[in-house]
Amino acid sequence: MAHSSWLLTCSPWSTFAALAALMTSALVLSYASSSFLNQRAAYDYDDPYGPDAEPSAAAAAAAAAGALVPRKGPGYPPVFAYYITGGRGDCLRVTRLLKAVYHPRNRYLLHLDAGAGAYERARLASYARSEQSFLEYGNVHVVGKGDALDGRGPSAVAAVLRGAAVLLRVGADWDWLVTLGAADYPLVTQDDLLYAFSSVPRDLNFIDHRADSETHHVVVLDQNLLQSTNAEISFSSGHREKPDAFELFRGSPWPILSRAFVEHCVAAPDNLPRTLLMYFSNTLDAAEFYFQTVMANSQRFRNSTVNHSVRLDVPPPPPPQQQPGADQQQSRYDALVGSGAAFAGRFGDDEALLQRIDEEVLRRPLDGVTPGAWCAGGSGEEGVAESECSLGGDIDAVRQGAAGRRLASLINSLVGTGA
Ligand SMILES: *[C@@H]1O[C@H](CO)[C@@H](O)[C@H](O)[C@H]1NC(C)=O
Ligand SMILES: *[C@@H]1O[C@H](CO)[C@@H](O)[C@H](O)[C@H]1NC(C)=O
Repeated sequence: MAHSSWLLTCSPWSTFAALAALMTSALVLSYASSSFLNQRAAYDYDDPYGPDAEPSAAAAAAAAAGALVPRKGPGYPPVFAYYITGGRGDCLRVTRLLKAVYHPRNRYLLHLDAGAGAYERARLASYARSEQSFLEYGNVHVVGKGDALDGRGPSAVAAVLRGAAVLLRVGADWDWLVTLGAADYPLVTQDDLLYAFSSVPRDLNFIDHRADSETHHVVVLDQNLLQSTNAEISFSSGHREKPDAFELFRGSPWPILSRAFVEHCVAAPDNLPRTLLMYFSNTLDAAEFYFQTVMANSQRFRNSTVNHSVRLDVPPPPPPQQQPGADQQQSRYDALVGSGAAFAGRFGDDEALLQRIDEEVLRRPLDGVTPGAWCAGGSGEEGVAESECSLGGDIDAVRQGAAGRRLASLINSLVGTGA
């Protein structure tokens, strides 16, 4: 491995290491902003709504669609932008997740990383074109060329920034960015989520974070920033020096970020987001530090944080040699659904748990999207499951259920205390 031996010959204190760090960060920067700056982004699918399409084409299509653009303002629910990312073999899980979190108000960008083949990516794109509501509302986009990823490291942050840049370009004036992996799943319907966030000030960021000066950052080289196929991260023996110009913060890599903060990180009008991208460009777990550290060190955004990501980790399944008792399954389900959280991950292969969430929480019909108040007719409170969601309903209306009220009360308690 030429690269790892090259890396290992560098002591972290040598100028070589400093140079390598700078080079890598320059690459992170260009990588993260390329789709924002270049007219030709790596998106092959989805005209006329693709980011490559003439802006007027998308606008014209939206105008022709009349009332299909979500109304915004006081009294209306917010709009979420979802960046959903998966790897090789994740096409089905990504489509299932998309159906579970679909709502005509929102925007969706689906990304299969470079580990997935062209065939799988084409299948995902063709699925996104086959669902009537996605076409009608034009709010599902598929990345035409996957980013190389290891799942950790700075390439994970770069991919989110890049996805965010695209979502900013495709517009629709969204309020919050939600990043989900293929193994994640919602614990509430979108109606419930939109309801719970309706009264939340749109500038708040839901990001759990704590000061972290303990972690020793091993110097790594994330080749995924440099190449087009997935690569494993190489480790060096050195450690990153502690910065003294800013304090490090760590938290879940799955925050819900306000549009203003996302724009701040993508466009980087001041130096902090860039400086921190450089700092984290050769550290592992950059995704657990980057947004947290930018936020907590920024004058402008420090006060707009809620120290919670409204998300849970799925409790680990019982060990395989143990008989998976019905009680245990029940308590795992209760822990998730009773928590009041909006999302959970990672589900692994727990089909029984997912199916129960589909049936009892989302009431999602087999192979259909989660119904909501936006469905015209046929989605009454009773017997939702057997009806397809038909188009033409009011996309500005939401109908909350018990899960929505639990989430709203969690959020009110978080926001009320000023967290
Ligand atoms: C966020 O909450 C955690 C515990 O829930 C706490 O340890 C941490 O200090 C809090 N972060 C900040 C910045 O207050
Ligand atoms: C943030 O909050 C602190 C204390 O709550 C306050 O002193 C400071 O002025 C606030 N900063 C901004 C930019 O609002």
